[in-house]
Amino acid sequence: MILVTGSNGLLGQKLVYKLRNRADIQLIATARGENRLAEQSGYEFHSLDTTHRDAVLSIIEHFKPDSVIHAAAQTNVDACEFDKEGAWRANVETVENLIEAIKTKSPKTQLIHLSTDFIFDGENGPYREEDEPNPLSYYGTTKLEAEKRLYASEIHWAILRTIIVYGITDNMSRSNIVLWAKGALEKGQALDVVNDQYRSPTLAEDLADACISAVMKEAQGIFHTSGKDFMSIIELVYRVADYYGLDKSLVKPVSSKTLNQPAKRPPKTGFILDKAYRELDYRPHSFEEGIKIVEEQVKMFRANN
Ligand SMILES: NC(=O)c1ccc[n+]([C@@H]2O[C@H](COP(=O)([O-])OP(=O)(O)OC[C@H]3O[C@@H](n4cnc5c(N)ncnc54)[C@H](OP(=O)(O)O)[C@@H]3O)[C@@H](O)[C@H]2O)c1
Repeated sequence: MILVTGSNGLLGQKLVYKLRNRADIQLIATARGENRLAEQSGYEFHSLDTTHRDAVLSIIEHFKPDSVIHAAAQTNVDACEFDKEGAWRANVETVENLIEAIKTKSPKTQLIHLSTDFIFDGENGPYREEDEPNPLSYYGTTKLEAEKRLYASEIHWAILRTIIVYGITDNMSRSNIVLWAKGALEKGQALDVVNDQYRSPTLAEDLADACISAVMKEAQGIFHTSGKDFMSIIELVYRVADYYGLDKSLVKPVSSKTLNQPAKRPPKTGFILDKAYRELDYRPHSFEEGIKIVEEQVKMFRANN
């Protein structure tokens, strides 16, 4: 049995769609509030705010799942700077709650936790799993603190770190860089895009596959699971424009300094994926293959809505 937290989110939704109706897996999807997925069969849904300690303890005690995939988090990097208490509750205390619940109620449960390239300062990317973290933002700090809770716990855990996740969700309540760039350029809007930050964007389906593989292989330890293509953010936007035949002259290169975002971003991250290739059989798509998959899903979404 697998229990997913944050099942309304981008990764959470992909996990539910990949796992529901699988004969070999009983799936419990949990999210804050109502279930926002279009498909509500093939799994059981329970409302769960992971900051509520008692609720976490009680659901783990009730189901005693083989694995928990913890996809819930406060992922808005700038919001974390403005509401540090909320970010701490969402990103650190939830992990403490899950560790306590597993330790006391279901010690055999494996916890798959999701983390981020923002735990690094971006001075020496691409990074290996054992490289020294040094977060620049409060979001990165909370995600690193959550990791430290796991290192010190005596439960069975795996941490999958990832970078800029893109894809579409049922309700499209949140955007991501690929959809944002495509949407704006299609409307003929000019875009200011940073030319001094480098990342490896990750297709949400690839990340979901990595999580499922970590469950199946009973993986332990830290894994870097991003996309395999490394590029600057402006190149990413140019590649989206090229894919759709959109006007690249609308894209204006700017430096991170001019953008003046509330949270400081690491200049150059990216991951070395060898361990995930070897131990999780991780096989991420190229960025262009990823955009194609998203495009097919957007077409299906439009046809059904
Ligand atoms: N997205 C990225 O670019 C990125 C990059 C690096 C790492 N990650 C990590 O990957 C993981 C998955 O992220 P994602 O892309 O799927 O993010 P997402 O789309 O923002 O989903 C996160 C989900 O967590 C839910 N959530 C927040 N607080 C909660 C709480 N207290 N109780 C229950 N649910 C709560 C949110 O609920 P609502 O929908 O109700 O707000 C949302 O559905 C996260 O750990 C994130 O830190 C993501």
